Amino acid sequence: MTLAPRITLNDGHSIPQVGLGTWPLDDDQAAAAVVHAVEAGFRHIDTAVKYGNERGVGHGIRASGAERADLFVTTKLDGQFQGNDRAVEGLEGSLRRLGLDYVDLLLIHWPLPSRGEYVSTWKTFERLQAEGKVRSIGVSNFKPAHLERLMAETDVVPAVNQIQLTPAVTRTAEREFHARHGIVTESYSPLGGSGAGILDAPVLARLAGKHGRTPGQVVLRWHVQNGLVTIPKTANPERMRENLDIFDFELDPQDLAELAALDEGPGAGNDSDVTGH
Ligand SMILES: NC(=O)c1ccc[n+]([C@@H]2O[C@H](COP(=O)([O-])OP(=O)(O)OC[C@H]3O[C@@H](n4cnc5c(N)ncnc54)[C@H](OP(=O)(O)O)[C@@H]3O)[C@@H](O)[C@H]2O)c1
Repeated sequence: MTLAPRITLNDGHSIPQVGLGTWPLDDDQAAAAVVHAVEAGFRHIDTAVKYGNERGVGHGIRASGAERADLFVTTKLDGQFQGNDRAVEGLEGSLRRLGLDYVDLLLIHWPLPSRGEYVSTWKTFERLQAEGKVRSIGVSNFKPAHLERLMAETDVVPAVNQIQLTPAVTRTAEREFHARHGIVTESYSPLGGSGAGILDAPVLARLAGKHGRTPGQVVLRWHVQNGLVTIPKTANPERMRENLDIFDFELDPQDLAELAALDEGPGAGNDSDVTGH
C-alpha cells in the first residue's frame, strides 16, 4: 500500500499530496469509494456541500476503520452560505452530515466576485479556525486579484487555493503567485475531468510506454513533480491504487518538455469572474 507524502501548509498543518475527489458520487457511491480509498492508502478525501455526498463520505470514514487523526478531510462552503456570518451555519451543516467534530480544510468554493461577500466570509473562516472547528482554511477558484483583495483586507493568508489545473491548463502565473505568498496550489480535475480529457493525447501514450505506467499515472506524476496537491476522482479500487502508485518513477526534463506541448496557454480553463456557485 502506498501512502502519499505530506506537504506542510503555511499554518503548520500538513496535507497528503494526493487525495480522493468525490464529485459526482452520490452518498452510497461516496461511502463505498471512501472505504476502498482508505484500503488503497488514501488519507485525504475531498468533498463539498454542493456535491450532496457529505453524509456518504462520513459513513465511509467510519466504515473504513481509519483513525480520524490519520485522515485529512476537506469540504467547501457553498455560495448560499457566503456573507453575514452564514459560514457558521454552513460549516455546522457540513460537520453534522459528515459526523465529524472538525474538518481539516474548509474552502470557499467559488469567489463569486459580483456578490462581493468573500472578504466577510473569510473573516468568519478566521474565527471558525480560531475556535478549532476547522484546522486549515483556504479558497477555491480564486484568481490572483481575488487573493490580493483578501490578503489586503484580512489577517490570515489562505493555506490552499484549489483550482482547475492539468498539463493543458497549467495556470503558471497563478502558481507563481501562490508560491510567492506561501499558498499551496491544489489541482482539481487533474486528469482533465470526466468528459473528453487529455488522457488520449499521443504524448501520454508514449510516456506511459516509456515508463511502464498508464497515461493517468504520467499526468498525476506531472502534478506531484510540480509540487501540486491533487485530487483525482475514481470509484474504481484498481484505479485508486494506480493513482497513488506514482512515487517511484520520475519524468525527466525531456518528458516534461514534451508534456509542455499540451499547454493551451494562459486563457485556458474556467474563469471564476464569470462562473461559480
Ligand atoms: N473546487 C472545485 O470547484 C472543483 C471542481 C471540480 C472538481 N473538484 C474536485 O476535484 C475532483 C477531481 O476532479 P474531476 O472529478 O472533475 O476530474 P478528474 O479527477 O480529472 O477525472 C475524473 C475522471 O477520470 C477517470 N479516472 C480516474 N482515474 C483514472 C485513471 N487512473 N485512468 C483513467 N481514467 C481515470 C474517472 O473515471 P472513473 O470514475 O470511471 O474511474 C473520471 O471519469 C472532483 O471529484 C472534486 O472532488 C473541485
